Amino acid sequence: MSALEVSGLRKSFGGVVALDGIDVAMDLGEILGIVGPNGSGKTTLFNVISGALRPTAGRVTWLGKEISGHPPHQIARSGLVRTFQQAMSFQALSVRENVRIASEHGGRGAPSAVPPEELLSFVGLAGREEEIAGSMPFGNLRRLGLALALAARPRLLLLDEPAAGLNDGETEDLADIIVRLPRLGLGVCLIDHDMNLIASICSRLVVLDFGTKIAEGPPAGVLQDRKVMEVYLGTPA
Ligand SMILES: Nc1ncnc2c1ncn2[C@@H]1O[C@H](COP(=O)(O)OP(=O)(O)OP(=O)(O)O)[C@@H](O)[C@H]1O
Ligand SMILES: [Mg+2]
Repeated sequence: MSALEVSGLRKSFGGVVALDGIDVAMDLGEILGIVGPNGSGKTTLFNVISGALRPTAGRVTWLGKEISGHPPHQIARSGLVRTFQQAMSFQALSVRENVRIASEHGGRGAPSAVPPEELLSFVGLAGREEEIAGSMPFGNLRRLGLALALAARPRLLLLDEPAAGLNDGETEDLADIIVRLPRLGLGVCLIDHDMNLIASICSRLVVLDFGTKIAEGPPAGVLQDRKVMEVYLGTPA
């Protein structure tokens, strides 16, 4: 049994079927990439896994227990922590205060993969404890977002477009941080549109299109898959 198992997951919004029977399984210690065009259901998948949305059908199992429909705070405290497409932090508070608040709302019982006192240096923000989050450049806000997610003591992190809005150098810096997480025993499930980032750090990819899984496997094979190339490049069959 895998740490996270999603089976037959379906989510509709009125007539829109955002997830149409998705099966995904992943283990701690791996980086799984979720890719697909805009509107293919990636964020909805995270929303259902993290408890923000109830599935229309199907189930989510985490560490052997079904969690479908459980409240988001309970799921987060069990070690399944997600970040948002928008960089999330308390803009008016300092970096230090942001980390303190995130730590207080974090998981119980599980040891931190990164000790709290090392979090800021881990994400490259050492020495910036007193800076006000809202006054930091965007690249640093993304780093802070990652530190806050780690402060919540995840065992598996769901990262929704962590590199959105970053330039190439900032994206590489972020990738260098993310690849260290599996070595600490964490699982990482990563949504991004940056194929260079995805291909370089993910051990496995799942490709969604219109709420269905059209391909799965190691990046090299998946990115050469005919269906995947059609979706991304519009190449005729
Ligand atoms: N709360 C909602 N209410 C109604 N429709 C929704 C809701 N959330 C998502 N959808 C619809 O579900 C589909 C999948 O959306 P989703 O946000 O999961 O896509 P995505 O793959 O994350 O896209 P992007 O790459 O643009 O972030 C879209 O058609 C979207 O309009
Ligand atoms: Mg999305």
